[in-house]
Amino acid sequence: MYDVVVIGSGPAGYVSAIRSAQLGLKTVCIEMYEDVNGKQALGGTCLNVGCIPSKALLDSSHRYHDAKENLITHGIKSSDVELDLKQMMSRKDGIVNKLTGGIASLFSSNKVHSIFGKAKVISENIVLVNKNDGSNEEIETKNIIVATGSIPIEISSAKYKTNIVDSSGALSFKDVPKRLGIIGAGIIGLELGSVWARLGSEVTIFEALDEFLPSVDKDLSKECFKEFCKQGLNIKLGSKLVSSKEYKNKVEVTIEQKDDQLNFEFDKLIVAVGREPNTQDIFSDSLSHLIKDNKIEVDEFCQTSVASIWAIGDVVRGPMLAHKGSEEGIMVAERIAKNFAEVNYDLIPSVIYSHPEVAWVGLSEHEAKQKNIDYKVGKFPFSASGRALAVDQSVGFVKVLSDSTTDTIIGVHVFGPAAAELVQQALISMEFGSSSEDIGLTMFSHPTVSEALHEAALSVNNKAIHIGNKK
Ligand code: FAD
Ligand code: NAI
Repeated sequence: MYDVVVIGSGPAGYVSAIRSAQLGLKTVCIEMYEDVNGKQALGGTCLNVGCIPSKALLDSSHRYHDAKENLITHGIKSSDVELDLKQMMSRKDGIVNKLTGGIASLFSSNKVHSIFGKAKVISENIVLVNKNDGSNEEIETKNIIVATGSIPIEISSAKYKTNIVDSSGALSFKDVPKRLGIIGAGIIGLELGSVWARLGSEVTIFEALDEFLPSVDKDLSKECFKEFCKQGLNIKLGSKLVSSKEYKNKVEVTIEQKDDQLNFEFDKLIVAVGREPNTQDIFSDSLSHLIKDNKIEVDEFCQTSVASIWAIGDVVRGPMLAHKGSEEGIMVAERIAKNFAEVNYDLIPSVIYSHPEVAWVGLSEHEAKQKNIDYKVGKFPFSASGRALAVDQSVGFVKVLSDSTTDTIIGVHVFGPAAAELVQQALISMEFGSSSEDIGLTMFSHPTVSEALHEAALSVNNKAIHIGNKK
């Protein structure tokens, strides 16, 4: 009898399994994933076909593009720069293998038992596993943590084939497509569009909505839209995919723009219109009531209405982000061990790993307005940061919102160098209830891009030194 069976070894499941075992709970993690070559691997979407391979390619493609286009401004001539896509992909695969192998070692050192196979919860205490080796096993357990993640949404107007691909396919093209179409200007469209544009594709992104990144602070989305277009991403808003047809070496798509229908031709088409929770065939019929609107329904502590069954990560409500799933995984392990634990759902950071990065935490201006919160704004442009200029990354700004009455920081939004790290600094202070004055009174190293956060916080109360203050 196990204390905990975790289904799925993505960042939600593997972290939960490790913490459960650390807390002395007898734990097994079941994972069904096999890669295109039939190799079993832990790590879920994030490590195998998500966060990690995409960031590896974002970095490589940025270096290539920088060497080709930008080094000359530093007085470095690099006319012979050539792309070796096979090597770039093999570096990416090497990083993935290292990290997924790392989880196997962590499982073994923490005494998490690992089984490869497809799991199904057949009662509140029994999980049936169809193992990858063909055998079956029924596992009895006190607790079940479902962490089965999410899968790309497939739309009927563009079924995945050879040249019409999802994000996984777009992480392993064998050649740089000359003409690349992308459906959806969300995070995947922008990150993978950036990768292939830097490597030489002509990239056109079709977004159904008239607004670019509608959930992001408007100042931020406006500024990054301009910059992404400048970088060569041809982003067409208000453009909905109507139909597509795949040929041997091309894809034809029909797009509806206002009342017009336009046809386009691409070598490859990436469909990135969102992901959906992976709830198919997870529960036997007697437990299917735990799924609502295709998500497993849970309370704030990730417990379902059946006390022994918990669910975490992409398969439950909330943003589909690795770090959100991991924190839920830790919370659930602690609660099973009867310790106090919770997740602060108000402070989940978001990052788009473009160049420069886009990152934010807390409320945007429009969300503050919707909540009738009176707020103050402080802003600092990277064009006034000595370090940003020195490292040739002076696009963008830091924006800090604080409550007008208490000065408590309610949101931080950054487009610019190291945006993810700056937002993380702000988030730490926000966890401790910091005011913008607290950040203003903190000493920052010079010259760093972090000084932009300092100045934006000072500017909330009209005390910025390196830009003019509001009258
Ligand atoms: P998953 O990582 O999806 O893992 C679920 C696991 O469960 C899978 O391995 C699956 O095989 C297994 N499984 C499913 N059903 C069963 C079953 N019945 N039996 C056994 N095993 C099963 N997020 C970020 O925070 N930062 C990023 O930079 C980022 N980049 C991304 C880039 C791309 C291209 C994509 C696609 C996603 C990205 N994400 C990113 C999102 C992130 O990958 C997910 O939020 C995260 O992986 C969710 O973790 P999870 O553990 O809930 O599920
Ligand atoms: P998304 O929800 O971010 O964006 C999908 C976009 O497609 C939306 O803007 C939507 O309006 C548009 N769309 C939907 N149907 C369309 C149609 N028929 N025609 C044209 N446009 C259409 O989803 P995406 O980019 O697929 O990413 C899925 C999730 O993966 C993200 O929401 C995020 O949670 C996670 N992710 C996180 C990353 C990060 O943290 N850096 C990186 C990549 C993915």
